[in-house]
Amino acid sequence: MCGIIGYVGKTPCVEFIFEGLKKLEYRGYDSSGIAVYDSGHLHLIKKPGKIKNLQPYLGSLPSAASSGMGHTRWATHGEPSELNAHPHMEQGISVVHNGILENYKELKIELMREGAVFQSDTDTEVMVHLLARELAYVKDPKKAILNIVPRLEGAFAFGIMFADYPDTVYLVKQASPLVVGLGEGESFFASDALALLGHCKNYVYLEDAQIAELKSSGLQLYNFHGVQAEFEVTQIDEAAFSVDKGGFHHYMRKEISEQSRIIAAAIAKYLGPGSLESWADVLDKLPAKGKIAVHEQTPVYIVGCGTAYYAGMLGKYLIESLTAVQVQVELASEFRYRQPKLRAGAIAIAVTQSGETADTLAAVQYAKRQGATVYSLCNVEHSSIVRESEVFIPLGCGAEIGVASTKAFTAMVFNFYLLSWVVASQFESVAQSPAEELRSLPLLLERIQAMDAQIEQVAKQIVEASSCIYMGRGHHFPLACEGALKLKELSYIHAEGYAGGELKHGPIALIDRSMFVVALVPRCDGYDKMVSNIQEVIAREGRVIAVGAEDDRQLQEMVEYYIPSPQVDDPALQAILTAVVLQLFAYYVAVHRGTDVDQPRNLAKSVTVE
Ligand code: M6R
Repeated sequence: MCGIIGYVGKTPCVEFIFEGLKKLEYRGYDSSGIAVYDSGHLHLIKKPGKIKNLQPYLGSLPSAASSGMGHTRWATHGEPSELNAHPHMEQGISVVHNGILENYKELKIELMREGAVFQSDTDTEVMVHLLARELAYVKDPKKAILNIVPRLEGAFAFGIMFADYPDTVYLVKQASPLVVGLGEGESFFASDALALLGHCKNYVYLEDAQIAELKSSGLQLYNFHGVQAEFEVTQIDEAAFSVDKGGFHHYMRKEISEQSRIIAAAIAKYLGPGSLESWADVLDKLPAKGKIAVHEQTPVYIVGCGTAYYAGMLGKYLIESLTAVQVQVELASEFRYRQPKLRAGAIAIAVTQSGETADTLAAVQYAKRQGATVYSLCNVEHSSIVRESEVFIPLGCGAEIGVASTKAFTAMVFNFYLLSWVVASQFESVAQSPAEELRSLPLLLERIQAMDAQIEQVAKQIVEASSCIYMGRGHHFPLACEGALKLKELSYIHAEGYAGGELKHGPIALIDRSMFVVALVPRCDGYDKMVSNIQEVIAREGRVIAVGAEDDRQLQEMVEYYIPSPQVDDPALQAILTAVVLQLFAYYVAVHRGTDVDQPRNLAKSVTVE
């Protein structure tokens, strides 16, 4: 949610900031802006819409400017417009912000009573006026920030520049991410290290309640009481951040295609080439940090949002099908406010691609306060949630740029699969493990890529649809929810996922000739019951698209449209195969509706506000 990037050094920086913004566009894309310092003044450009809209105006900024910052916005307060775009600037002070100032209204009223005139509808602008007021008294930018910070409520990552204090940018962090990059005689900062790769080798992740004073000569960190803080310098494995489209039209399509390779690599890493002797060996290799220790009596909570939540639902099915461990899967946004009393010894497993999702982070912090041990299944090693975790299981699928999550979802499910076997192996009786089927997965995933044209043909049929139901049973119920989420976020067609058994408890009232029903009918998850559900839909003139076995002629003849999918016996592995079919289906519906596949409207890749 909103991307921030900036530079303080000796080299002209306008181009660097513009290019960095493009790398951060996944965080929000409704407007953008850049502020730079030159010859005693701050200079500003802002435009609504995608970042490319700034390009024609870059020349109006002083080309020699060697400190500055940029922002790409995901609107919270105020429509996407030039006035509401960041940076906000007033009286020689410029501010960019990621997050929400929850008490901005009362601050705004106070400032307006004193005569402040607001240009925008944003919460952020109060920070500019607060700073101007405070600076007039204390005449010291750091002191002014320290005096203001106790008055701010909510989540915020700020970049702040002052026309009267060149070669310095101040950063403030509370519950929204910020990373600093340190170079030779130059310093960088951004919401995500991704935007700084190739420019510096040493990174410092700011902690909550910290203020950074960043100069070309380096970094000073303070806590919110003004006490200087130590910091740890981290190096980043740049190979994990490859961000090209690999010859595909969209990042999303490329990321769908990568899943076979990612799972093959995970199998090679954890299971090795031969036959699997013992899951204990996997246990030794599984966590990059911390040791997995789940006992039959351990209360386990899985928390996540969106796609990650649906992966968590599958995680519950997987762990509970192999062990007697009781797992509760919770929407992070509810968990943090529902405030359940966690039993002693509880484990909270956070599932998250970005590791920065505000609700998941808050759920993790709540669980920690309740004494739980936190595990994370996450794709970003240095993210806030990983840093809060005792055990970190890396998803290892490389940067996911498409806003719709694809490869991260299957990596989450795959890692829950390994985790469930590892946990089961810690108890006495472990059933025969399906390692052979597991090894067949990469090839089967390749086969699905080759069915691309077939899936596209069916996808074309629902391009004009206004609503769609997905239904599945067992492991395919979470998948029905995930499939519906993919369709709605990419194509803007209304879609909901239901458990097949729930259909006649309400949703069946929606069925008529205009309703498409995507039925997930693998051989393994309640096949006969799903066939009955399909009959019930057809009897009410609903239009069924079934996803089932390649050789299931009977099913194929029953329904209007059919998408064949390779089959395995293990429903968890089947769920991974079906997930990829549903991703391709949603992708092609979006392509044929002409929507913005990689950056669907109103969304952002990393949801760092509530
Ligand atoms: O980074 P996270 O996995 O924590 O993100 C959670 C959700 O915001 C995310 O999965 C979202 O639902 C995706 N747009 C789904 O494709």
